Amino acid sequence: MSIKKHYLDKFIRATEQAAIGAYPFIGKGDKIAADQGSVDKMRNELNLIQMNGEVVIGEGEMDEAPMLYIGEKVGTKDGQSLDIALDPLECTNFVAKNLPNSFSMLAACEKGNLFSAPDTYMEKIAIGQNLPKNLIDLDNTVEKNIKLLSDAKKKKISDITACVLKRPRHDKIVRELDKLKVKIQFISDGDVSGAISVADPKTNIDVYLGIGGGPEGVLAAAALSCLGGQIQTRLVLDKNETLRAKKMGISDIKKKYNIEDLIKGDVIFVASAITDGSIVNGVKDLGNKYEVSTFALHKDQSINKKVNNIHKK
Ligand code: FBP
Repeated sequence: MSIKKHYLDKFIRATEQAAIGAYPFIGKGDKIAADQGSVDKMRNELNLIQMNGEVVIGEGEMDEAPMLYIGEKVGTKDGQSLDIALDPLECTNFVAKNLPNSFSMLAACEKGNLFSAPDTYMEKIAIGQNLPKNLIDLDNTVEKNIKLLSDAKKKKISDITACVLKRPRHDKIVRELDKLKVKIQFISDGDVSGAISVADPKTNIDVYLGIGGGPEGVLAAAALSCLGGQIQTRLVLDKNETLRAKKMGISDIKKKYNIEDLIKGDVIFVASAITDGSIVNGVKDLGNKYEVSTFALHKDQSINKKVNNIHKK
């Protein structure tokens, strides 16, 4: 079975409303208020959708997130049974500081087909489409992965571009990439976009690697599953997080998850820009209405599109 076609528009509306919810907070320095603005709107919209939805990747775990927490039921409870991964505001800093590339995002799979994980860090390595399955591996050295990629892409190592989140924890990876003379595209935040960029030929990014948010890893996997890319991930857990993961049914905490372990079957991915993005423009205030732009994917329908919608104030 697939996800019914009409859900794509409903989910687009949910992320667009969430983007509008964050809009008043652009450049106001308050990332918590911005996040709350988008969470409130997304939750309202999701609850209007005729579905038996459950948040499996959300704003946090039940005891720490007031809304859209992992396990929260959403929708009218009488439609298709769907699991939802969401990030109503991906890149809170970018909204607070009025910087490009903040989004409201959501992915949906049929019940039981979307990886559910605690809200922790995750190791990730992602590559684009038309490459041998399981070409790269988190247990390989950076050098080995880059060499495998350069051979498979028939590209010189010095022509390979790697996208890396600028964090001290990535200094070792960066040193190894520098030694190989790989080009590095640093990002200051936003590793969903970073990971997805490997499947966008316009970016010239060949590989994304490093540690970022776990929810962001699953959202990136949803988009890459539609685009034909690959991602491998592994949870990064401290003692307390290990207990939480076990409580959620994850017994092998060192397991490497390939894309098909994270996303099974059909999947929808939608991302509406709040501030201007490289993929789509941010929310525009047109006086009595907003214009919002969304990047939307539906795997089984082979939909890959950008849409602009007008929403009354
Ligand atoms: P927020 O939207 O929660 O601010 O996350 C932004 C982000 O850059 C993610 O894209 C990334 O996965 C994560 O933060 C990295 O976490 P950290 O800033 O702790 O290194």
